Amino acid sequence: MGKSELAGAFGPRVLHWADRLAEWSEAPHALTCTYLTPPHRRVAAELARWITAAGMATEIDAVGNVVARLCATDPNAKTVILASHYDTVINAGKYDGRLGVLVALVVAEHLRKSCHTLPFHLEIIAFSEEEGVRFSAPYIGSSAVAGRFDQKLFERRDCRWTASRRCDARRRTRSRRDSPHSHARAIACAPISKFTSSKGPVLLKHAVPVGVVTSIAGDVRYLVTLTGAAGHAGTVPMTMRRDAAAAAAEIILYVERRCAGTPTLVGTVGKLNVPDGAINVIPGRCDLSVDIRSGDDATRDAAIADILAEIGQISLRRQVTVDIKETMRMPAVPCSPAIVDGLATAVERAGLPVVRLASGAGHDAVMFDRLTDIGMLFVRCGNDGVSHSPLETVTADDVDVLRPACCSMFSFTSTPTPVNDGIHFCT
Ligand code: GLV
Ligand code: MN
Repeated sequence: MGKSELAGAFGPRVLHWADRLAEWSEAPHALTCTYLTPPHRRVAAELARWITAAGMATEIDAVGNVVARLCATDPNAKTVILASHYDTVINAGKYDGRLGVLVALVVAEHLRKSCHTLPFHLEIIAFSEEEGVRFSAPYIGSSAVAGRFDQKLFERRDCRWTASRRCDARRRTRSRRDSPHSHARAIACAPISKFTSSKGPVLLKHAVPVGVVTSIAGDVRYLVTLTGAAGHAGTVPMTMRRDAAAAAAEIILYVERRCAGTPTLVGTVGKLNVPDGAINVIPGRCDLSVDIRSGDDATRDAAIADILAEIGQISLRRQVTVDIKETMRMPAVPCSPAIVDGLATAVERAGLPVVRLASGAGHDAVMFDRLTDIGMLFVRCGNDGVSHSPLETVTADDVDVLRPACCSMFSFTSTPTPVNDGIHFCT
């Protein structure tokens, strides 16, 4: 593939599509598109329509993934998956996840139009759920493809108390006579690559448009329920209170203190709720989430042990009871050195400096850990690298930088490089 062949408004097209997808939202003046809501289904349908128009056989599977395939001539060829997710957080930016899907779509469209055949099957997957917002469970879409779908998810309820089974995959799958598990692929040893927007200020600091991801941080999450005693805000003396929100405040500050100052360790309380709270009532209950991450599992687990001990101390001292549920535990996952090096070569060939960076964000790729090789490119975000926010920005010029990188990546693979037992990798 010649370097000029993907020319022509690559970046602007991707951004235009991201704008179009952002029109589907659960909120009137913000972008919120959580799993299996009506806007989420509309986005899936729109993506399926675009990918089909680009000439690929496309389906929406039982868990809402949009899956498309471009076949190699050899039916026994390996498969390369280019994937990212299309669900969003609440009040999201337009690019996190979706950028990866749209870049893959433009590349596939080009390959199809130019009748370029690859020595591997190319699969594009827009995963339906990565953020874990609606059912406090991330990676729902990718876990089905990886054969790691957890049936217990059907028992979960969302924040509107809707049981997952009422809007779920299982109901849809029954009528289709298949199940989330039937979407697991024989993908062992087929590499996965992903393009995504960068979720932090690192690339901005280095003043480079793309970065090569070396690893994905491990992440452990908890939902904590504190129960004290509700009471009259005017009549209960300060020394006699069992204020659940005050206990939560202490916990939040401890999480911040414990995680500050250790490289790669981060801790966040992103959800905080006083059920039935009122201005004149001492909080009798407070619910909070705790998310602790690090590129190093031992560092993260040491912090967690301290945080759990401190929660115990705080609740004892304040006489509140505490219930802690671990909702997720993912180890740190390294990217495949072969894919990392290959992507670095592609970036270099595009005339750019290579910045390798660890990802503090979670990604669907972790579901494929030990099943196949994974790798990823980040694209620089503006606005101090902010993501998970409507202030997230990406420029068309930066997305355009992926064009020569893609050319390089795919032309390299047309002379397949055997690694690991003759498997061909995507660089
Ligand atoms: C998803 O983007 C996460 O890192 O939580
Ligand atoms: Mn995200």
